[in-house]
Amino acid sequence: NWNMKNFVEDQVDKIRKQVGDKKVLLALSGGVDSSVVAALLIKAIGKQLVCVHVNHGLMRKGESESVIEVFKNQLDANLVYVDASERFLGKLAGVADPEQKRKIIGAEFIRVFEEEARKLEGIDFLAQGTIYPDIVESGTKTAKVVKSHHNVGGLPEDLKFDLVEPLYYLFKDEVRACGLELGLPHDMVFRQPFPGPGLGVRCLGAITRERLEAVRESDAILREEFANAGLDKKVWQYFTAVPDFKSVGVRDNARCFEYPVIIRAVNTIDAMSASIEQIDWSVLIKITDRILKEVPNVNRVCYDLSPKPTATIEFE
Ligand code: XMP
Repeated sequence: NWNMKNFVEDQVDKIRKQVGDKKVLLALSGGVDSSVVAALLIKAIGKQLVCVHVNHGLMRKGESESVIEVFKNQLDANLVYVDASERFLGKLAGVADPEQKRKIIGAEFIRVFEEEARKLEGIDFLAQGTIYPDIVESGTKTAKVVKSHHNVGGLPEDLKFDLVEPLYYLFKDEVRACGLELGLPHDMVFRQPFPGPGLGVRCLGAITRERLEAVRESDAILREEFANAGLDKKVWQYFTAVPDFKSVGVRDNARCFEYPVIIRAVNTIDAMSASIEQIDWSVLIKITDRILKEVPNVNRVCYDLSPKPTATIEFE
């Protein structure tokens, strides 16, 4: 009789047997998979788990704060918080090519994580939020890589740990059910997909603080208004992007030269193709009003009507 309660109990036993009294390290991004792994390990081994949350400065508004609130304050986890924003922004300065940006973010992430791992003594295991589709996809993927994806692999040889991968045979919906069983907040368990390189792929061209703030603030407004309209439960993924050009507008009777914000909202089954959500004009107009009022350096809001293909979901 397989149910989620039994699964959690089984995994707790397995983890305790595998780990004994040793310590386990986990890169906790705040995404669904790493959050559920963290909750499961906290239940199994408590403070023998060391979570490292790296804030690369490309998180959505409030996201690192919620990782700290849930894991440190509520679950009393052993959590190391690393604010590496300045490092990442420094490395990314002037880099406009999307694949180059992804490589820099991925490499810097591993470097920061490695530095933290070296500071910690006596760690024997590394926990990972690998889930079944990750294995299936990496085994069979013959499609040409359109965008290189980002994960935590790639640590140096002398930092190889034994792996703890309790979600190995679960599909995404089962991972979410497991998260709920473990008492994680609904928002965290049903979080929309978010790329590893974060807002870096939505702040187009070379990242600047000005445009990064425009992406972060407009995304926060979009998420709030989608939730108010009940669209957060209906639409698969929705976000804003800010391109690296300005256009002329008028503000307080004077010419202004500022950035546009592009809204994207899509539905998909498998992310290989996607269609746009037909948002009510009234919702779009409300969001537009708020973005134009509340987000500095923005004088236009556009809605992206493109399906995938030919567009991808993200802009990069
Ligand atoms: P594209 O833009 O290729 O995106 O149509 C398809 C889906 O993948 C998400 N995405 C990522 N997810 N790491 C992830 O875990 C990544 O590096 C990454 N890049 C894109 C994207 O948000 C969309 O849902």
